[in-house]
Amino acid sequence: MATAVTAAVSLPSSKSSSLSSRTSIIFSDRINFTKSNVYSSGVSVAGKAVSIRAQVTTEAPAKVEKISKKNEEGVIVNKYKPKNPYTGRCLLNTKITGDDAPGETWHMVFSTEGEIPYREGQSIGVIADGEDKNGKPHKLRLYSIASSALGDFGDSKTVSLCVKRLVYTNDQGEVVKGVCSNFLCDLKPGAEVKLTGPVGKEMLMPKDPNATIIMLATGTGIAPFRSFLWKMFFEKHEDYQFNGLAWLFLGVPTSSSLLYKEEFEKMKEKSPDNFRVDFAVSREQTNEKGEKMYIQTRMAQYAEELWQLLKKDNTFVYMCGLKGMEKGIDDIMGSLAARDGIDWLEYKRQLKKAEQWNVEVY
Ligand SMILES: Cc1cc2nc3c(=O)[nH]c(=O)nc-3n(C[C@H](O)[C@H](O)[C@H](O)COP(=O)(O)OP(=O)(O)OC[C@H]3O[C@@H](n4cnc5c(N)ncnc54)[C@H](O)[C@@H]3O)c2cc1C
Ligand SMILES: NC(=O)c1ccc[n+]([C@@H]2O[C@H](COP(=O)([O-])OP(=O)(O)OC[C@H]3O[C@@H](n4cnc5c(N)ncnc54)[C@H](OP(=O)(O)O)[C@@H]3O)[C@@H](O)[C@H]2O)c1
Repeated sequence: MATAVTAAVSLPSSKSSSLSSRTSIIFSDRINFTKSNVYSSGVSVAGKAVSIRAQVTTEAPAKVEKISKKNEEGVIVNKYKPKNPYTGRCLLNTKITGDDAPGETWHMVFSTEGEIPYREGQSIGVIADGEDKNGKPHKLRLYSIASSALGDFGDSKTVSLCVKRLVYTNDQGEVVKGVCSNFLCDLKPGAEVKLTGPVGKEMLMPKDPNATIIMLATGTGIAPFRSFLWKMFFEKHEDYQFNGLAWLFLGVPTSSSLLYKEEFEKMKEKSPDNFRVDFAVSREQTNEKGEKMYIQTRMAQYAEELWQLLKKDNTFVYMCGLKGMEKGIDDIMGSLAARDGIDWLEYKRQLKKAEQWNVEVY
């Protein structure tokens, strides 16, 4: 005989500088009665002989199991591996940056026939056609999925990516084109594409539909957030109705490289109380000190508000894009934390442990 008792304990956050008190983790304390010894003994009740089954139970030590605050249950990873990729087809490929933008970014949709069941926040691998300089097939490159699980056509049969074409000049002065990004940006509708995955759990959305979700993106780092935001504001789900605050910060070089701007404006129109968006256009805007407007420079303008939000148990921060942005964001958070006498790196460690600080930069 086994009995399970499940207790959910949520530790409240505090505005004090105590680090341990601000962490909120939900535990499931399962008390399993695993050993069950059953005895039978003959006794007499009202003159009749009856058999009584007496149960002796030995308690096993309580098992502490962490329940994720993110939408992790049933997430599939690595269904398709490099040796056995899924072959999809390009349905649409369109440049989404202006002609005068520094660099090109493309939005593309591939057919999956529902065979790559991904979730918002995951990535897929792409194996470019052709061979490397050693005559071997190209290695896979990872791309954050830019569509919600329903896909851009709403039928759960497609996956979309947002890809920057990598072109640079090497030390010898030669122009070098990145293998996979150029393969993808040049794909024509109808062409086949080898896909692997899905992979990744770091960027999965929080389960709480009332959460505050702060999204920090540079360039194509917008991909997972487009995926989140479609689910929140463009779709209807029986088991998920977003009613929290979604706040997006997006950093790009020029206004002609602002990605998915019209979509975000539509979301703002539809849900002004639940969505905020702030752009940082680095080569066109500056702050009052004349400094380049990076994403962290824009965030600094809302410093106090962001800091207060970060003290809430159901605020989740997600960061995606250029590796360099992480230090800049640490610097502003560090100065805010210091005003409250808090060591930011330790505070961030606690936030990470509570799944409230999620980073995928490259
Ligand atoms: C989890 C994850 C998600 C990602 N998501 C996306 C996404 O959504 N969109 C996206 O566009 N990218 C994304 N990337 C990056 C992507 O995986 C590829 O790295 C990118 O497209 C370049 O691949 P490539 O094959 O075109 O270039 P490659 O042929 O692999 O060439 C890249 C190499 O070129 C060299 N190089 C690059 N720039 C320079 C330079 N300026 N000077 C000298 N050498 C240089 C470096 O050695 C670099 O490793 C993601 C990466 C990860 C890890
Ligand atoms: N999941 C992931 O890991 C993931 C997903 C998607 C993309 N990525 C990666 O993210 C990167 C995005 O690049 P992109 O070419 O698409 O971007 P982009 O269009 O060049 O935009 C990047 C923006 O960030 C600014 N920036 C540069 N250094 C910065 C710093 N230290 N702090 C804050 N902002 C800074 C740039 O400003 P200036 O150019 O004016 O200096 C520019 O405004 C790529 O490296 C891509 O591989 C990773």
